[in-house]
Amino acid sequence: MNSESKLSSVGIIGDSPAMHLLARQIETAAGCDLTAVVTGESGTGKELVARALHRQSARASMPFISVHCGAITETLMESELFGYERGAFTGANQRRKWLFEAAHNGTIFLDEIGEMSIASQVKLLRVLQEGAVRPVGAHAEIQIDVRVIAATNRNLAREVAAGRFREDLFYRIAVLAINTPPLRDRTSDIPLLLQYFQHQTEQKIKSTVSRRIEDDAIDALFDYHWPGNVRQLRHVVEKLVVGTLGDSLINADAVRRALDNHPHVVLCSTNGRWPFGAYTEGDSLDDFLDHAMQDLYDMLRGKTGSHSETARQLRVNRSSLYQRLDRARRRLYLSTVNEAAASIV
Ligand SMILES: Nc1ncnc2c1ncn2[C@@H]1O[C@H](COP(=O)(O)OP(=O)(O)OP(=O)(O)O)[C@@H](O)[C@H]1O
Ligand SMILES: [Mg+2]
Repeated sequence: MNSESKLSSVGIIGDSPAMHLLARQIETAAGCDLTAVVTGESGTGKELVARALHRQSARASMPFISVHCGAITETLMESELFGYERGAFTGANQRRKWLFEAAHNGTIFLDEIGEMSIASQVKLLRVLQEGAVRPVGAHAEIQIDVRVIAATNRNLAREVAAGRFREDLFYRIAVLAINTPPLRDRTSDIPLLLQYFQHQTEQKIKSTVSRRIEDDAIDALFDYHWPGNVRQLRHVVEKLVVGTLGDSLINADAVRRALDNHPHVVLCSTNGRWPFGAYTEGDSLDDFLDHAMQDLYDMLRGKTGSHSETARQLRVNRSSLYQRLDRARRRLYLSTVNEAAASIV
C-alpha cells in the first residue's frame, strides 16, 4: 500500500502535494519511536494525524490514549496523568492506574499541549526524561514505555519566547514536527473531501439516492477561504446534503446560503479552562447543553476507554447515560434538519 492509500484507510482524505508530503512525514514518524508534535490551525486534522501515526507504528496493537491537556486542572493533573496509591489522599479508596500507565507500550496523545500550566509542564518533563512515573502517594516509580505525540494550534516557539511554555519541554517534545496545512492552501482536495463527506452523510441519514452537485456549486466552495478548515467543510456538506432532496441538484446558491449561515464566531470561556461545548452564536440553550454533554462524554470516553467507566465517573448508570446521549444526538440531528430545511425555503 502506498502512503496515500494508508492515509485514506485511516480516514485522512487528500491528493494535493501538501497531503502527499504529510503522508510521507507520517510514514517516517511512524517508522521511529521519537516524540512528535503536530501543529496546525483548528480543524486541519491534527488528531487524525496523531491516530494515523499510531496505527502505522509498531505500537499499533497497543493502546492510544488521548488527553486534552486544557481539560485537566492543575490540581488534578498529577493524579490524572500519573495515578495514585490507595490512601494517598482523602477519597483515594483504591489504587488508580491512570493515563501514562494505561498507555504503557502504546501512545499517549497530549492534545492542546500549549494549554498546560507551567507547573504541569515541569511534571510532564520529569516523566519524559526519566521514562518513569511515581503515582501520587507511591514509594516506588513505575517504568513506562510510552510514545508521546503532542498537538497544538498555538505557535509553541512564540509561547516559549513569551514565557508561557518551558523551553526544555519544547525541545523534548518537538523532536519531530509535523504541520497539517490549512484547507485554503490545498483547495485542490475540496472535490475529494466533498465526495467523502457527502457519502458519509448520505449513509448517516440512510439516503438511497446520491445528490448531484453542480459545477458552479463546486466553484463557490473553491472561492471560499475556510477559516474553520476541513471541520467547517464537513459541517457545510452535512448541511447541504440534509437540506437537499435526493433527486435534486446542489447549486451555488445553496452553497452560498450554507456558508452564510455558518457561524464563524465561537465563544469560549474567558479563562481558557473550559473546553467543552464552546458556544456558537445563534445556538439555543438546548443545542449548547447537548453539544456540551457530547463533548464531555467524548473526552471522558477517550480517557477511560469504556462507556461503563465514563458512566461511573459521571455518577449515572450506564443505560441512563446511553439514553441521555441518544436523546441529545436525536435533538441535535433534528435541529440541523430544521435549520437546513428553513434555509432552502
Ligand atoms: N484530511 C482529512 N480528511 C478527512 N477528514 C478530515 C481531514 N482533516 C480533518 N478532517 C475532519 O475534520 C474534523 C476535525 O479534525 P481534527 O479533530 O483532527 O482537527 P484538529 O486539527 O485536531 O482540530 P482542533 O485544533 O480544533 O482540535 C474531524 O471531523 C475530521 O474527521
Ligand atoms: Mg484536535
